[in-house]
Amino acid sequence: MKLIKAVRGTKDIFGDEGIKYDYITRTAQEFFGNYGYSMIKTPIFEETDLFKRGVGEGTDIVEKEMYTFQDRGERSITLRPEGTAAVVRCYLENKIYAKEEVSRYFYAGSMFRYERPQAGRQREFNQIGVEVLGESSPILDAEVIAMGYSFLSKIGVTDLEVTINSVGEKESRQRYRETLLNFLEPMREELCDDCKMRMEKNPLRVLDCKVDKCKELTADAPIITDSLSVEEKAHYEIVKKYLTLFNVKYKEDPRLVRGLDYYSSTVYEIVTNKLGSQGTVLGGGRYDNLLKQLGDKEIPAFGFAAGVERIMMLLGEDFPKRELDVYIAWLGEATMDSAFKLANDLRLFGKSVVIDYASKGMKAHMKKADRVGAKNVIIIGEDEMNKGVVMLKDFINRTQEEVSIENIKNILK
Ligand code: HAM
Repeated sequence: MKLIKAVRGTKDIFGDEGIKYDYITRTAQEFFGNYGYSMIKTPIFEETDLFKRGVGEGTDIVEKEMYTFQDRGERSITLRPEGTAAVVRCYLENKIYAKEEVSRYFYAGSMFRYERPQAGRQREFNQIGVEVLGESSPILDAEVIAMGYSFLSKIGVTDLEVTINSVGEKESRQRYRETLLNFLEPMREELCDDCKMRMEKNPLRVLDCKVDKCKELTADAPIITDSLSVEEKAHYEIVKKYLTLFNVKYKEDPRLVRGLDYYSSTVYEIVTNKLGSQGTVLGGGRYDNLLKQLGDKEIPAFGFAAGVERIMMLLGEDFPKRELDVYIAWLGEATMDSAFKLANDLRLFGKSVVIDYASKGMKAHMKKADRVGAKNVIIIGEDEMNKGVVMLKDFINRTQEEVSIENIKNILK
């Protein structure tokens, strides 16, 4: 029989990788929790129009990467390619803006993009992300950038570079668009086909092209920061000042435009040179216009998302493996009931316990205890059990002592 395999571009996460995934998402939730972020869970699929209007018709994501299908009710549905548009949809739909001034959300979950799979790039991948709605202060921009950077450092991802830019508001971008088009026009025929199309739809994306020839041709392109208004420049200056205050080293990259249309003002990425071409670990920015676009509300917002698989690759073996508190070795059928009762009591007491269902000899038990990584082994023999005691073996220091069943919880503390 032919075995069914996981679909191309998807990946199972289990064993040590599962522990690593859990470590990253749990630490993130706890870490961002300290900054006041609470969990938000939006559906995995949404109406296709949400992403067309939110992420933007001219983007690679909407143009060629979405998993879109008709459901049985003839609705056009799309598996979410990213989390921001859905958080904004939820915020507007539930009128959260009327209930609180500033909302801070954290999410973790899978996203879907039909991209060419390679190391660090999948068709189903996981993101952890945060979104803050209702705050326009540039200090928030710096605080969120610093928070993402500190989180990655805390879990052990090092050698990261923070790159930042400001893409301004609509008017500045329009001004810049014209300046840039004037620069690009004479070289139009020499640019790649994608860039020719970008010139029509979103010329800023030409600066993001990975083709060497296009990079060379546009090396001296005018930069967007020169087109910013006085207020936008001031906002950007404060972001940089506070990044320095928060001890975040950053590099300005005037060509950084990001691949989603909803950004305005500050944009940034945290990159590594350890993952080849898929070096962006985290990306985000300000998206003050998205709430206008989706719900006609003037509400500022800022956020980021990081790729969990990329963080997992960077962590390698460097993450805390889960430890097992106790392995219970029971010897002979007569001890079985007491052994399972003790396992149950200890688990309710908060200890992690593994116990085998089949009767085994001492040697086989020790082998198993070793394999499951137990810190302690409780050995229950018939004679000892009748006396109300068990043997407690410290499996790390290889010492052992006889303790009463009554007292075992206190000793294991
Ligand atoms: P993004 O840059 O498209 O931004 O994705 C964020 C991160 O998700 C990337 O830096 C990368 O680590 C990871 N990622 C993206 N595509 C893939 C893939 N195919 N395979 C593996 N990892 C991937 C956003 O999604 C925005 N929603 C971020 C944001 C939140 N901006 C404001 N708030």
